[in-house]
Amino acid sequence: MGKLIAYFSRKDENYVNGMLKNLDVGNTEVAAGMIRKLTGAALFKIEPRQPYSKSYNECIAQAQADQERDARPELKSYPESLNDFQTIYLCYPNYWGTMPMAVFTFLEHFDMTGKIIKPLCTHEGSGLGNSISDIRRLCPGAKVEDGLALRGGCVYKSEEKIKEWV
Ligand SMILES: Cc1cc2nc3c(=O)[nH]c(=O)nc-3n(C[C@H](O)[C@H](O)[C@H](O)COP(=O)(O)O)c2cc1C
Repeated sequence: MGKLIAYFSRKDENYVNGMLKNLDVGNTEVAAGMIRKLTGAALFKIEPRQPYSKSYNECIAQAQADQERDARPELKSYPESLNDFQTIYLCYPNYWGTMPMAVFTFLEHFDMTGKIIKPLCTHEGSGLGNSISDIRRLCPGAKVEDGLALRGGCVYKSEEKIKEWV
């Protein structure tokens, strides 16, 4: 059975290793690309219909508001079906202690019963946060494996860690 890498990532202005920087490719997207190189799995980008602001501070506020009202932002699109996929590498940045709410939308859209979910989270200090328990709650029939947490600013140096975890 096939493998899918479903990831959320935001480029543009971000806070990396204590500094605001403009990223051409988001940290999680870099990690997702490495998983693809290692596994040949299919890639799907989880994108909200209304993207978050390019400004870091605005994005922080938008994402916090989404989380406070337990929002389920609409997505641009979905994979037609997950029937061909047994394993899902779910990659996301830590937003306010868990996944971006768009990832909640994605997980709730499908019946994940019987799937193996392998979570990978990039962050700036809080690791996986509550994301694993949130994934388990949203996907009760899935086998949610231990997650891999990578510091966003170190993602380019993380290929070995990803290789071991994959
Ligand atoms: C809206 C927002 C909220 C964040 N909240 C946290 C957090 O609670 N804990 C943490 O360690 N990092 C937090 N970060 C940092 C990101 O998790 C980190 O920069 C990540 O690598 C970004 O991934 P991306 O470039 O793929 O979007 C936050 C970043 C943003 C933009």
